[in-house]
Amino acid sequence: PTALAGRHFLKELDFTAEEFLGLVELAADLKAAKKAGTETQYLRGRNIALIFEKTSTRTRCAFEVAAADQGASTTYLDPAGSQIGHKESVKDTARVLGRMFDAIEYRGHGQGVVEELAAYAGVPVYNGLTDEWHPTQMLADVLTMTEHSDKPLNEMVFAYLGDARYNMGNSYLVTGALLGMDVRIVAPRVLWPDETIVELAQRLAAASGGKVTLTEDVKEGVRGADFVATDVWVSMGEPKEVWDERIALLGPYAVTMDVLRATGNTDVKFLHCLPAFHDLGTAVGREVHERHDLTELEVTDEVFESEHSVVFDEAENRMHTIKAVLVATLA
Ligand code: CP
Ligand code: NVA
Repeated sequence: PTALAGRHFLKELDFTAEEFLGLVELAADLKAAKKAGTETQYLRGRNIALIFEKTSTRTRCAFEVAAADQGASTTYLDPAGSQIGHKESVKDTARVLGRMFDAIEYRGHGQGVVEELAAYAGVPVYNGLTDEWHPTQMLADVLTMTEHSDKPLNEMVFAYLGDARYNMGNSYLVTGALLGMDVRIVAPRVLWPDETIVELAQRLAAASGGKVTLTEDVKEGVRGADFVATDVWVSMGEPKEVWDERIALLGPYAVTMDVLRATGNTDVKFLHCLPAFHDLGTAVGREVHERHDLTELEVTDEVFESEHSVVFDEAENRMHTIKAVLVATLA
């Protein structure tokens, strides 16, 4: 068994910086092995439940492909297709699934739900995104950063623009601080992370030698950045009505070529967990487009499609990093 055998992954801070980076290294090894055709299966005969109370493309597929590559089976419980939360309590669900499965992934709303599952399941539970945190995404983003920079993490400058009081903003702030990065949150003050999360990040940065900055000033926030990231302006589970307010607040924080130029770094890379509104050719996009006469939101198509953009490496890395979590906790 590995050092992380049997552990949950509910939020970034469940692991020390060393453990977190160990997972990123394991993911890099597993990625290389898969590409070389030399992958060893460590999870034959294991069964993993995938509970999704919100929709997903990457996270679900990453868990399913990672498990299949490793010889494990998955069962997908879709947002409507289980009793959880409607007819059956989280506590009972945890105790039932814990008897059948070797691990449980959960995507949903409150962090409290995934914490409760973990408390009663008796098997490792993984957070596949809650309103508060997106920890498996952070492993993929850190792997992607290490692949696209020669600098060690503690010399990297990372700037996140956009809605920062939700899962992605919170997760970037604490992960950057945990790993000793110079992490900047660039957003209107009302969309900064909760004070408790900012204080937590400041404590982590003091211990890691990192630096935490929150600013409303885009130029100052992105200066010297190695990586610029953003996320959708309205997240899953938020009411449609917030679009108007978010568009008004976040317009100046859209990632454009001017923003990338303001970093002063010609080699700056762009990250986005996806899905992204860089061209509004989707159903939700068309609605927003019609009401606001906008064709791009948090990132321009020009940036998204440019050589700065590493979003598809990032998406691929979801699979390799989730595989690392499975192997480390279950092998
Ligand atoms: N980045 C991410 O979590 O994507 P999905 O919502 O498609 O899983
Ligand atoms: N903040 C986004 C992330 C999607 C992966 C959401 O919660 O919808």
